[in-house]
Amino acid sequence: MSENVFRSPRKRGRIAVFLSGRGSNFMAIHEAIEAGEINADVALVFSNKKEAPGFLFARDRGLETLYLRPKSFPDRESYDQEIAREIEAREIDLIVLAGYMRILTAPFCERFLLRIINIHPALLPSFPGLHVQQKAIDWGVRFSGATVHFVIPEVDMGPIILQAVVPVLQDDTEESLSARILKEEHKIYPEAVKLFFEGRVEVRGRKVFILD
Ligand code: GRF
Repeated sequence: MSENVFRSPRKRGRIAVFLSGRGSNFMAIHEAIEAGEINADVALVFSNKKEAPGFLFARDRGLETLYLRPKSFPDRESYDQEIAREIEAREIDLIVLAGYMRILTAPFCERFLLRIINIHPALLPSFPGLHVQQKAIDWGVRFSGATVHFVIPEVDMGPIILQAVVPVLQDDTEESLSARILKEEHKIYPEAVKLFFEGRVEVRGRKVFILD
């Protein structure tokens, strides 16, 4: 049986960052782009929260921003349809979820399949969902970390691109573990975007291969 193979494009990419909060991962990616480390431009920063610090940061930097008020739409499907129109109008190559706190609808995920990535503060498939640093502590795992993965309709279950591991210490609090993981997030998320536009991300089935 032949398996579908996807290979990321080798080009100067146009990315859209989706965020709802602090935006430290977006800032790490932006910094790497400014430093010339990633062959891409931030063509859009989108938010469902117009006061999100990451969104204000983007506006201050003169980046193109878009806010859509969820309450102005009858349902999640129509909200996501409007985002999709905006994304297509700007010829976006990759959507980078960076603390975007709304679950994307299945039609949106399918429309942009293998063109949406996310970062999650745990070693997936362990601890999907929210408050996962506390869940890792409560479970008593010795290691946790961060995962960059493609987005599919099943939340936090898409093909894994990169992971980083950190120890969980006996006296960790949610804050201390989150900070240790976040430091790694700021390394692997820019790295994943870099690899993507170097044409080095290949997906076969649910496995991702990083090409030399
Ligand atoms: C990060 O912990 C990320 O893993 C999760 O949401 C948080 C976003 O943080 N998806 P920031 O807004 O990038 O600072």
